[in-house]
Order: sequence, then structure tokens, then C-alpha cells
Amino acid sequence: MYQGYQKYVPFQPVSLPDRQWPDKVIEKAPIWCSVDLRDGNQALVNPMNLEEKLLFFQTLVDIGFKEIEVGFPSASETEYEILRTLIDRDLIPDDVTIQVLVQARPHLIRKTFEAIRGAKNVIIHFYNSTSTLQRKVVFRTDMQGVIDIAVEGARLIRQLTEEEVKQSGANIRYEYSPESFSGTEMDNAVLICQRVLEELGATPENKVILNLPNTVEMATPNCHADQIEYFCRNLKGRDSAIISLHPHNDRGTATAATELGLLAGADRVEGTLFGNGERTGNADIMNVAMNMYSQGIDPKLDFSNLKKIREVYEECTEMKVGERHPYAGELVFTAFSGSHQDAIKKGLDYMREHDSQYWEIPYLPLDPADVGRAYEPIIRINSQSGKGGAAFIMQQNFGYNLPKSMHPEFGTIVKAACDEAGREIQPKEVFDLFEKEYLQVGYPYNLKSYKLNEENDVDRHTVVHFEGNLRFKDKDHIIQGDGNGPIDAFFNALRTVGITDYQFLSYHEHAVSLGADSKAISYIELSAPGGKTVFGVGLDNNISLASIKGIICAINRAEARKEKESK
Ligand code: KIV
Ligand code: ZN
Repeated sequence: MYQGYQKYVPFQPVSLPDRQWPDKVIEKAPIWCSVDLRDGNQALVNPMNLEEKLLFFQTLVDIGFKEIEVGFPSASETEYEILRTLIDRDLIPDDVTIQVLVQARPHLIRKTFEAIRGAKNVIIHFYNSTSTLQRKVVFRTDMQGVIDIAVEGARLIRQLTEEEVKQSGANIRYEYSPESFSGTEMDNAVLICQRVLEELGATPENKVILNLPNTVEMATPNCHADQIEYFCRNLKGRDSAIISLHPHNDRGTATAATELGLLAGADRVEGTLFGNGERTGNADIMNVAMNMYSQGIDPKLDFSNLKKIREVYEECTEMKVGERHPYAGELVFTAFSGSHQDAIKKGLDYMREHDSQYWEIPYLPLDPADVGRAYEPIIRINSQSGKGGAAFIMQQNFGYNLPKSMHPEFGTIVKAACDEAGREIQPKEVFDLFEKEYLQVGYPYNLKSYKLNEENDVDRHTVVHFEGNLRFKDKDHIIQGDGNGPIDAFFNALRTVGITDYQFLSYHEHAVSLGADSKAISYIELSAPGGKTVFGVGLDNNISLASIKGIICAINRAEARKEKESK
């Protein structure tokens, strides 16, 4: 038996029986703040160097972030230098606010103010830990001791800000985080934040950001939402605060915690691209934003170039985006299952036929084009693929519209090839199988030459006359026949040499473009001796000859099948 779970104490949720958030819906994007260059960066095996941070910063700007936490300048010389480079090289757009993190400790606060000199828009983000556990085991102090640290920090920050604004005219705003908020008694979290708001002189015109970190995710997302709603309802001066979320992903539910936290009243979200960050990471802003996008809400961030963004991320962080990562993973627009492939194809057809302005494709919650991906790799062919998958590839990649009745036959051929190869097969291999099976069958019957004439009889009915040299194995036969069209005439000609037991069932044709050239392709369905059906395909510049070739192909395939079965 698995032992050890008894040592864990279950999370004690805040009591909020009249919670309102379950009845809310997300209707607009929050204020986003990327903490990739700080929280994300500090969690890397090899933190980003200057060049990488600059590239990452530019990428965040291009995505549309207006608030970017660029570092912890009092924590290391490298962090300090990077911030100076951004300011001195004038790399920060006027509409972007940089955010810098600092502990609520006087010498670090002073150093931070030195680091931001010359920046136009800055958020000074200070924090101290408030949780029950941290107070007990790390700081060994009571709540008053923790409040004093925050209030003194706030007082110094306000004083230095006033001096800086007088000197440089910079636009400086404040953010306070009761670190480990979700492990703090809610009344204590409210109390300390209220004291900080007072000390900073927050007003509805000059709001202070109160960031409520789920520093370690300890409970189900509904517990986090209850904490946020409780906090918002009990904070005096709620209208002088911007409530910010900062979820981490220890239980794998940071996206849900963010979304429920927004329902509970938060205005702002801190997180990272692809959820990089301490331990299991921060909330994945791309994921949350694209969830909004796929609900018809403008996320105010642009991930239309997600592939490129992922490349920059992987290059700068040396981390990998998983293949099934929502919206960004290599495999997220790929359907392996046959029924999924079939439904996707039907959805695509439906949208085309109805000229639908809405996205109505089963199994694809998002149009891949919206994140810079193409349709082609959606369907991959392996032994799990259904009969429609191979036909879909032939249509999408090569412009061959196999009739529906032919899908099972070709699907079986492709499935057998996958089973034999023991792997997924590529579109080109699907095409090669089609070519080999239908376009390269010239035995035992082979039409060496032919002539078609068309006349009208006295009743003005069209009569087509076929004459040709049909080789059977190594013997030539001159055959001729009349009919009301080329197919009929050819069939009648076949009867003259004893080929009588094939019945014509169906015929489809369309033009297919082959580079600069265009040809006709015909799909012929015959009933073969014994009642089984068989398909043949003919490809030619001449539409009549394409049909005749299709008939010969079907007969040759039936003959080959007969021979195989007799062995
Ligand atoms: O997770 C956290 O609590 C933090 C704070 C410093 C905001 O990153
Ligand atoms: Zn964090």
C-alpha cells in the first residue's frame, strides 16, 4: 500500500457560502503583465543573458504586453545591467510600463530606485511573505512584525518616488504582493493590504496594484476563487486597488485558477508564456488568452505568430514546449483517430458549403490559422486512421476528389501499408500508394491504340464507335463496338472478346492540375465476377480516354485480385 499521505494536512478553505463567482462569465481581457523576464527567468537552469533578454523583451512587446516585469535589479549585477541597457538604449516603447521586483527591505529599495533612473513608466513591485507557514518556520514572527515590514517598505517607496518624480517626471506606480497570499489567513491578507494602501496614499485616481500570489498552489481552483472574492469583498478601499492574480501551477491547475480568479473579481493577471516559472511554473498567459480568444473575446494579445514565439521562447529559455501543450504544441492540430478525421473533414466541407462565418469544426476548438499553423498537418495517417483520412489527404494535398464509395477501398489499402510499416505514413507515401494501386496497372489488359468516332443516326441519336488494339498478356486483339457514349462503346467492344462479366456501376470525373498542365481523372466502379465491386482510375488529357483507362484499370485490378485469391 502507498504510505505517507497521512503526513499532509488538507487545505482549509475560506468560508464563503454566498459566493457569487460561479454565476459570472469572463467577458473581457484583464490587464496582462508578463513576468517571463523575472519569475520565469529566475527558474531557468541557465538564466537569459543580455541578448536573450532583449530579444525576449521585444517579443513580449510585439505580442502586445503593456506591463512587463523585467527583473529584480537589486538582486544581481546582471539584472541591474540588463535593466540599464533597456533604459539607456531607449528600447522601452512609451506605451509600455516596466515593472521591477524588490523585497520590502530599505537597502534593496534604494538600489532599485537607482536602477530605474531615466525610465518613463515604472511599476515598483515590492513584497514580503505573509503566510502562516512562512511566519512560523522562516521569519519566526507574528503578523504585526510582517505588517511592519510592509508598511515601512511602503513608506520608503513613497518617499523615494516623490523625490524621483520631482527630479525626472517619471510615471511611477506601486504594486504590493503579500507573498504566499493563498497560504495566509484571509483577514490577515486583507489587513496588511489595507495598511499598505493607506501608506501609499492609494485613491481611485491613483490605484495601487495588489498582487495576490498563489505562490504555491495548494488547493482546487474554486478555493482560490473563494479567496479572491473574499478579499475583494472585505478590502476597504477596493476602488483604490487593482486586484492582480499571480498563480503558480503546482497542482497543474494554474489556468483554471486564473480563470476562476477573474470571475471572482480580479482585474489583472501576472504570468508567463507557456507557463515557465518556479517549480511547475507560473500561469500560462498564452493559454489563458487563447481560451478567451476561442470564446469570441478579444484577448488584447496577439499570438497569430505562435510558432515563431515558441521558437524564441525555446531558444532563450532552453526549455521545450510539449507536443500537446494547448494551442502551441506540435501535435495539437493533429487528429490520429479515424472518426475525428472524418468529422474534421465534414466540418471543413460544411463550412465551405455554407460559407459559414463561424468556426464549426468538431475536434478543433481553434482555427489553426489563427496561431500561424496550416491545415495540411491536421490529418496524419496511421493504422488508427479511418477510411476518410486517406481520401482527405488526397483531396487536400493533391487535389484528387475520390468518390465517397471509393474511400473504404483506398482506406483499407493505406491502413494495410501503415500496419506493414508499423508507423505513421506521410502524405507523399499515401500518394505513392494511390499511384501504384491505380495508375500503374497495365496488366493483363493494355490498350495499345484506339480510335473514337461520333456520328448521329437518322433519329439524331449520337452513336459513338470505338475501335482499338487491346493487348491481353502478350497477344493483341482488335476490338470494336458502338454505344451511346465512349464508355458504352468500349464496354460493347470488350464483349466481342468475351469480357462480359463486368457490370458498370458508377463514374466520377474531375480535372486535376499537375503543375502547369491539367488532366482529366476518372474513377470507375465496376461489379466484378462474384459480385464484388472494384474501382479503377484513369488519368489523361482526353476525358474519354481517361474513362476507358479507368475501366481497364478496374478490370486489371479485379483480375489481380482473382489470381491472388486463387493461390
Ligand atoms: O510567486 C510569488 O509569490 C512571487 C512574488 C514575488 C510575487 O513571484
Ligand atoms: Zn511567482
